[in-house]
Amino acid sequence: MTTAKALSESALAARVADPGLWAGDPHPHLARLRAEAPLARCEELGLPHFWAVSKHADVLRISRDPSTFCSARGVLLMDLERDLPKIPGALLYLDPPEHATYRRLLNPAFSTSKMRALEADTRARARALIEQVPEGEPVDVVAKLTVPYPLLVIADLLGAPGEDWPRFYEWSDVMIAAATVIDDASIAVLAEMGGYFLDLVAQRRGDPHDDLVTMLCHADIDGQVLSDEELMMFYGQLLVAGNETTRNLLSGGLVTLSEHPEQWQLLRDDPTRLPVAVEEMLRWSTPVISFMRTATRDVELRGRQVREGDPLLLLYTSANRDEDEFGPTADRFDVTRDPNHHVSFGFGEHFCLGAALARIEARVFFEELTARFATVVPAGPVERLESGVIAGITRAPLVFGR
Ligand code: HEM
Repeated sequence: MTTAKALSESALAARVADPGLWAGDPHPHLARLRAEAPLARCEELGLPHFWAVSKHADVLRISRDPSTFCSARGVLLMDLERDLPKIPGALLYLDPPEHATYRRLLNPAFSTSKMRALEADTRARARALIEQVPEGEPVDVVAKLTVPYPLLVIADLLGAPGEDWPRFYEWSDVMIAAATVIDDASIAVLAEMGGYFLDLVAQRRGDPHDDLVTMLCHADIDGQVLSDEELMMFYGQLLVAGNETTRNLLSGGLVTLSEHPEQWQLLRDDPTRLPVAVEEMLRWSTPVISFMRTATRDVELRGRQVREGDPLLLLYTSANRDEDEFGPTADRFDVTRDPNHHVSFGFGEHFCLGAALARIEARVFFEELTARFATVVPAGPVERLESGVIAGITRAPLVFGR
């Protein structure tokens, strides 16, 4: 009996490692996991062993204790199958106290006053794109809106020319792919990116601007300015972290609103609902599906023995639909849900650095869209990414009406 139970728990956990689960509707499976095996150990042949963590309370418990559950031994399932290079400044993979040393350098660029200052430019970017959306005919909102917009905003944040966004797009994709397989072509593209940013750094050293590139090239750790390698790491991670995530929040939010016209109408009627609505879009679409931690010591969790060295996969998508946190309406999209303690930006030491920026981007984007269009409806199949990390929408045809 014990073996059968362990096997079924393991099989339940193993499914979350299958990218195919995430390209469809993962929620029936996640609901089953929460109900039957909230902390499920995967021991399937051919897969790394790990714990699948599906409950909101456990995601918080683990995220708030980096000395027991560290990031340095990997944050993605695929990290278990490769040697992790030690990259200086890669925040996601750092633990305290080194993590705080680097994060402190970036925090000022995301202060409330900096974010407020960026809002007007962000709105101008959103408006310019939305003005090009035709009325009454299908438009792929991914290609037309949600790909370029976050890249334009990151260009503004860094202080790079906006027209370079297609190059940022390519570099970001190559960096993501290179995390799995790195070949000569990706090395060449990454060298091109390095050259681009080093040129920008050289320009800003001679002619400082009020931007992130300037700020970082003057930043220091104990009097030592950052090395070129550290600078590249910072620019690269901002490009990756702030691009696909925000894109999929916007794509996911738009697709969901097109399927819930009464919720769109609530926002049209009263756009001051948008800050609260953005939180629900974050909960509902959960752009980052999961990140991992590793136990640094033996520890008990939900009455189970987790051993030192055990990886734990934090399933944000599941935590965000946990009935114990969100009650009997957890499975309902409700733009007025408040409070809404979703974990889409993670929690604790690694809480998303760009959360305030992503929130502004999303609010401004939907303010502009709901002001311009009375309706949005689906106009064809939505295509999704097969990935266990990013809840990606690759194509979403919608029709807007006035
Ligand atoms: C909707 C959009 C976004 C989502 C859902 C998101 C999600 C997340 C999550 C879940 C983490 C936690 C990682 C962990 O615990 O290991 C994180 C960290 C991070 N995010 Fe975001 N993010 C978004 C937008 C952005 C933006 C716009 C930027 C910057 C331009 C950004 C930069 C970062 C960085 C640098 C980290 C690492 C922080 C650290 O380890 O201390 N993110 N993000």
